[in-house]
Amino acid sequence: MLEQSPAQLELSRVIEERSLVVCVGSGGVGKTTTAAAIGIQAAIEGRKAIVVTIDPARRLANSLGLEALGNDERPIPLAKFTDCGVEPKGSLHAMMLDTRKTFDEVIWRVSPDDETRSRVLGNRVYRHISDTLSASHDYMASEKLYDLHTSGRYDLVVLDTPPMKNALDFLEASGRLSRFLDEKIVGWFLRPHQDGRKRGLQLLSGTGTLVYRLLGNVFGNQFLDEISEFFLAFRDLLAGFRERAEVVSGLLRNRQQTRFVVVCAPQSTSMEEARYFHAQLMERSMPGGLFIVNQVGRYPDSQPADESSGRYLGDEERHWLADRLANAGHASVPAFIQRLETHFSRTVARSVDDQRAIDNLKSFAGRQASVCTVPRLVDDVYDFEGLLAIDGHLFGLESS
Ligand SMILES: Nc1ncnc2c1ncn2[C@@H]1O[C@H](COP(=O)(O)OP(=O)(O)OP(=O)(O)O)[C@@H](O)[C@H]1O
Ligand SMILES: [Mg+2]
Repeated sequence: MLEQSPAQLELSRVIEERSLVVCVGSGGVGKTTTAAAIGIQAAIEGRKAIVVTIDPARRLANSLGLEALGNDERPIPLAKFTDCGVEPKGSLHAMMLDTRKTFDEVIWRVSPDDETRSRVLGNRVYRHISDTLSASHDYMASEKLYDLHTSGRYDLVVLDTPPMKNALDFLEASGRLSRFLDEKIVGWFLRPHQDGRKRGLQLLSGTGTLVYRLLGNVFGNQFLDEISEFFLAFRDLLAGFRERAEVVSGLLRNRQQTRFVVVCAPQSTSMEEARYFHAQLMERSMPGGLFIVNQVGRYPDSQPADESSGRYLGDEERHWLADRLANAGHASVPAFIQRLETHFSRTVARSVDDQRAIDNLKSFAGRQASVCTVPRLVDDVYDFEGLLAIDGHLFGLESS
């Protein structure tokens, strides 16, 4: 094994000791890829791990050896590991967050009895609210997190998160519903029904009646009844939602159990977002302090073969290449070689920029945080081997 850098050691300790790793970051930087790679390494090291992704990408499922991912927890076939020459000491599961099903499941869990459950699930207002909340992936992720964490089925949950414009969304998501369904609001909707839970408007008096009559004119009394019925049923679920929100919020702040990993690309916008997110975590006393800079250019140290012309290909290499291109019947050999030179010098320049950005991030992070880097692989990461290659870089286990 190669010697691990301090950041790689840190990440190894995280997957060994923590029970929740949350991969966060802006869009397209490699959160899902990183989450899958971390899950694989944890399983290799002996943990019972699950990767929870919100990405509907079939390719990720395929790369893990599954036809598709669903809302259920699926075991990754052992053959996926052994085919690549690794013997996991633990196990790996994966699932994709199906936001609609997750919410229905929450109702199942928090409902005190069958009657409440079917009243809520069958209610038109619930279907509407559930549709709206289903679009809130971060909220659903925190609900799923609660289930997996409290189930005790896994030693480590690796949570992939949706890209975040506003980094606070996920951190605040767990309490959002219970705050929205604050008793005041629920109480307001319930008022017309409080006398013996009777339907209809005949028992009402005062402002409540007037408002309801007006709304009834607009929406129809039947719909209004459904709204009231929904909130009546939901009142019984509020305590359950509040409790779940508190558990998730506590878990996200627990330094012994949780670690946030901020994934970013070496480009400036992504780096800025990563710093901002890091600052948000610090402000909330949440366990951050670990960056993964992904898709880093590989050639920061490359020097031109000919310093005066700035050419990367030496004379010998140019002749060798020209011969082969000519033999293959290539029409414009010099122009082709020139394009190749230009492309490579741009790649080197980008790699130098990437390195500078990483150095800046490191000095920003100081001793508060660790920075791991993963190079941009030649191909997209589309199979188990690719994910293992990412692990090689993340954990410093093999040369690249
Ligand atoms: N180090 C890498 N080298 C090459 N390709 C990579 C690397 N990391 C990720 N990719 C590729 O980049 C693309 C985006 O990665 P991924 O889906 O993991 O990003 P994401 O942050 O989850 O995106 P989103 O925000 O859309 O969920 C994928 O096609 C993936 O295979
Ligand atoms: Mg993703």
